[in-house]
Amino acid sequence: MVEKVCENVAIIGCGYVGRAVACHLQKQGHFVTATTTRKERVTELEEVAAQVVIMTGNDAKAVKSVVQNQDTCLVSLAPISTRQVDAEVYRETYIPTAENLVAALKENSSVKQLIYLSSCSVYGNKNGEWVDETFGVDTDNEYNQVLGEAEQILLSSVREDLSVCILRLGGIYGPGRELMKRLSRLAGKRLPGSGENVGFWIHLDDSVRAVDFARQHRFNGIYNLVNDLRWTYRELCDYVCDKQGLERIVWDASQPSFRPLNAQISNRKIKAAGYTLIHPQTIV
Ligand SMILES: NC(=O)c1ccc[n+]([C@@H]2O[C@H](COP(=O)([O-])OP(=O)(O)OC[C@H]3O[C@@H](n4cnc5c(N)ncnc54)[C@H](OP(=O)(O)O)[C@@H]3O)[C@@H](O)[C@H]2O)c1
Repeated sequence: MVEKVCENVAIIGCGYVGRAVACHLQKQGHFVTATTTRKERVTELEEVAAQVVIMTGNDAKAVKSVVQNQDTCLVSLAPISTRQVDAEVYRETYIPTAENLVAALKENSSVKQLIYLSSCSVYGNKNGEWVDETFGVDTDNEYNQVLGEAEQILLSSVREDLSVCILRLGGIYGPGRELMKRLSRLAGKRLPGSGENVGFWIHLDDSVRAVDFARQHRFNGIYNLVNDLRWTYRELCDYVCDKQGLERIVWDASQPSFRPLNAQISNRKIKAAGYTLIHPQTIV
């Protein structure tokens, strides 16, 4: 596929991943439009984007304006809340944005690629079985219901001239979000569940490169984006605690797990499409 040398790319939601993608694409000479809901982030985002727009996804007019003249749109949203994020906040963040985007794309012919960052948690409890992108999503968990619904809304906008790619990411780690630091905060604590669920992870570098790969290769459909590590939470936490001389976590198997995901997630599809993981095995 011949890539347009310089694309216009809109990134709706420029947090940890969105900002890193903006930085990567801007360095390659693309014209990046970044969005934030907060005025105080404009200056910081201007370092990685040619244009910064303050908007929320529930503003249909703003969404329509952001996608105008773009070649690619990346949606990298996550709810912001000072209180505990409940499923309703999740819904308010994802669903209106997805609906407004689909409506805006109906009246837009410039956008050729939409990429949406979802989560591999959508598979829910599959009793530890292997799952790939053909498996259904969990409809019991309210958060997964929202994520699955947002995926379906966005996938409905596929046209011959518009590819829609859903990347289902594992837990994102990298600079500033190091697993060593995050998990060591749990040292000595008692956590619900047996700890035998496998955790799925993806480094920030791979999150960025896979988005760019999907953009360049006009990915259509759903792709899991997790690395090759297949450690249970117990193994991972023991490793982290032992390495730092901290007390191990105590797992309480009489309680349901604190993670609804219980499946072995295949990353074969994205590899078969040509993507090579930068950090297949690391956790730091
Ligand atoms: N973090 C993980 O471990 C993980 C795991 C699996 C999947 N994912 C997916 O990966 C994506 C990126 O995650 P992240 O960690 O980079 O998220 P993040 O750092 O929390 O950034 C989320 C961004 O969304 C923006 N935002 C929030 N509500 C919005 C709304 N209503 N309208 C428009 N923008 C809104 C925020 O704007 P402000 O600039 O105003 O803050 C923020 O920049 C998300 O789609 C998430 O579902 C994340």
